[in-house]
Amino acid sequence: MDTKVLSSGIQYSTLPESYIRPESERPRLSEVWECEDVPIIDLGSENRAQVVHKIGEACRLYGFFQVINHGVAVEAVREMTEVAHGFFKLPVEEKLKVYSEDPSKTMRLSTSFNVRKETVHNWRDYLRLHCHPLDKYVPEWPSNPPSFKENTRKYCEEVRELGLRIEGYISESLGLEKDYIKNVLGEQGQHMAVNYYPACPQPELTYGLPGHTDPNALTILLQDLNVAGLQVLKDGNWLSVKPQPHAFVINIGDQLQALSNGLYKSVWHRAVVNVDKPRLSVASFLCPSEEALISPAKPLTEDGSGPVYRGYTYAEYYKQFWSRNLDQEHCLELFKNK
Ligand code: OGA
Ligand code: NI
Repeated sequence: MDTKVLSSGIQYSTLPESYIRPESERPRLSEVWECEDVPIIDLGSENRAQVVHKIGEACRLYGFFQVINHGVAVEAVREMTEVAHGFFKLPVEEKLKVYSEDPSKTMRLSTSFNVRKETVHNWRDYLRLHCHPLDKYVPEWPSNPPSFKENTRKYCEEVRELGLRIEGYISESLGLEKDYIKNVLGEQGQHMAVNYYPACPQPELTYGLPGHTDPNALTILLQDLNVAGLQVLKDGNWLSVKPQPHAFVINIGDQLQALSNGLYKSVWHRAVVNVDKPRLSVASFLCPSEEALISPAKPLTEDGSGPVYRGYTYAEYYKQFWSRNLDQEHCLELFKNK
């Protein structure tokens, strides 16, 4: 490899050896189901009780759903998409100024997933940013493209508001106070991964991101409208989530699985790549504060089963997550009560 990142302008005619998955781990793209009916929830609805009900059902049955009429301005989404593309189009020397393989960095361009831990690489570059509080982190963000900071800041603000609102619906859908999740998670952090998956010469042999669950509380994903690639595991089958105009894909992260005592699932999902087109996605993660003490909500443990997970701090969890490779067993398994 000539450079550390894939988005270097080099065209690959075959997949470099270090990206090739062993036969048993390949995506088997012909077996993936096209999914037309991922729950789509209209947040513009006047009927709050119905929204809460639908979200609860989606969280129980799927662990993910899409939202429309979500209040994030079309303009903010468009401008975010523009600067994201703009960033990955920069000359490679410019991008490498912010390259790092150290997951503890609060701003970095990286590649694959966790280069230092993994044995096989993934066909992805990603820009990872911390986004809250904005005044602390915006100054360290890329200043190229010139509107990167301003556009991304705006997008982050709007997406945060949406995420907090959805946490309210989720709390209520569990029969908890509206602010339950918000109160438990403390002053939530917000991270962003701008994912860039270049066109790939042999998509059958590799992943953009292999199957994983998200370690945080809630993920708000902006999918590339023109190129599908997100797949979700449901009842043992991988489903391809068809990009939907003006929608976000929402998924429950490990922390809401723990808090719901396993009632809501932090689902396995993955990103696959394709031959002709690069794909871009923007994932926003709401994360508990480091000190937040996560444990199953008491009312949900009183049906006789008791708490499935032990209490732990998010700092403890996050450390565990990044010390592993992505496609190992669910990190949450390590926090189960014996
Ligand atoms: C992630 C993720 C999916 C995608 O960044 O955690 O799952 O479609 N991304 O890029
Ligand atoms: Ni994910």
